[in-house]
Amino acid sequence: MSPHHQDSPEPRPFGVISTKGVLWDFRQAIFDEGRPSPSPRVVELRSRHYVRKPQLDTLRERLAELRQQIEHKALSSEARALAPQPADHGFINLPAQLLEQAERHPRDNLLVRIQHSAAILRELADRIVILGIGGSYLGARALTEALLSTYHNELAVEARRSIPRCYFEGNGLDNDTLADLLALLQPPQGMARSRQERTALVVVSKSGTTLETAAAFRILWRHWQQWHPRELAARLVLVVTETQPRSRLYQVAQALGLPQEAIFPMPDDVGGRFSVFTPAGLVPAAILGLDISQLLRGAADMTRHFWEHPVEQNLPLQFAALNHLFFASLGKPIRVLSVWSKKLEGLGLWYDQLVSESLGKNETGPTPITAVQTRDLHSRGQQHQEGARDRIIHNVIVERPGHSPIPLGQLDGNTDGLDPIAGKTVPELLQAAWQGTNLAYAEDARPTTDLVLPQLDEYTLGQLMQMLMLSTVIEGRLLGVNPYGQPGVEAYKRNMRWLLALE
Ligand code: PA5
Repeated sequence: MSPHHQDSPEPRPFGVISTKGVLWDFRQAIFDEGRPSPSPRVVELRSRHYVRKPQLDTLRERLAELRQQIEHKALSSEARALAPQPADHGFINLPAQLLEQAERHPRDNLLVRIQHSAAILRELADRIVILGIGGSYLGARALTEALLSTYHNELAVEARRSIPRCYFEGNGLDNDTLADLLALLQPPQGMARSRQERTALVVVSKSGTTLETAAAFRILWRHWQQWHPRELAARLVLVVTETQPRSRLYQVAQALGLPQEAIFPMPDDVGGRFSVFTPAGLVPAAILGLDISQLLRGAADMTRHFWEHPVEQNLPLQFAALNHLFFASLGKPIRVLSVWSKKLEGLGLWYDQLVSESLGKNETGPTPITAVQTRDLHSRGQQHQEGARDRIIHNVIVERPGHSPIPLGQLDGNTDGLDPIAGKTVPELLQAAWQGTNLAYAEDARPTTDLVLPQLDEYTLGQLMQMLMLSTVIEGRLLGVNPYGQPGVEAYKRNMRWLLALE
């Protein structure tokens, strides 16, 4: 067990909250008159553009009350039925419930079923295509980008430990990318003759009627039937969808002859963008060899922290409160998730969706933006430093790299002038960039916070994603909008179906 799995350490000073896997330092977003400052101008700017501790304090009771209300609704089906709809609190306790089930019924539980199907697909096929859009795709993408080798698809089969190559589709209506994918997957002799030439399909759609995903499935299925004997084609497909009531995709799966074990449920009380810890995220993750128990353990531990920790030391509650104050009290509409690893770009896109669809309602809500550092210091960086004072920047930093730190080393003749730092490693350069950037922003009263992960693994990602989902729900309540549902997205879907004469 790694050190971050042990119990929380000693209490932190105000402005720092830590759980077993995530540390959040928000001192550079709080106005503190005693803090050394480069000039009176900066003090004056900070007093206008940073949150004050008393502002956070005034939210304490409201936060405690909201947590209690959510607990009540999450635990009682009567309360859920009476709440404004949709009331999809199911994601909150689901990770703990799945782990409990697995402990109580070690041979027969959802996780065992998922692992079993994943193992069969891995044996049958060397590639998988995951079809889905929005919440039915971004969670799986965030996990795989963060936790697989950056060049997973290019690795030889042994280097990938026979874990299939992975592609995402059904997330747009792009003729040419779909044609490129079909050309890539096409078996050389027409029929797939070996594992190496076979591709598995995972179709994820809660409603089962999303046109992008349904159209991609229809097209791919036609090819699957050409490339494999009928019975094998059906064995290469898994479906994740709503089963109670049965979605249209469920009916399609049955009509195509998929066995019951190939259909995984998306609970009706978990919304798409909150579904990463349902089979929508767990099935792709398991096929790709990720440790889904650790993922759920991280999420369940974060939920426990959320229920049990006092408001002032509660990460989801304080993250929600600070964001709310920046948006609603200080009038800063932009929220930047600035990820200091290319592997976290998918996480940023997932959070963009979470905030946009949960809070962008009733003509209000912050605008989320993902920045990937240090890449975007050379694009968005200028605006962060000198543009409108309209944003809070949350850095996401991974403390320990997954591989040994790579040293800069020597260059004959020192023509690039880097000899003085020849002994430094890439993580040390990154740290200098992060700290240098934070300092530059602080010196001009540009607020930042740091979310620090000890390393990138299933446990810490489980914690972080659950934390972001919980805090988004709380933020919705503070803002007075229902964080669940996305009525605005339905408008384009209706128009599209009407234009296509589908209804
Ligand atoms: O968060 C949401 O609910 C949406 O983004 C959905 O996930 C997205 O629209 C896809 O829907 P479905 O899973 O029904 O195909």
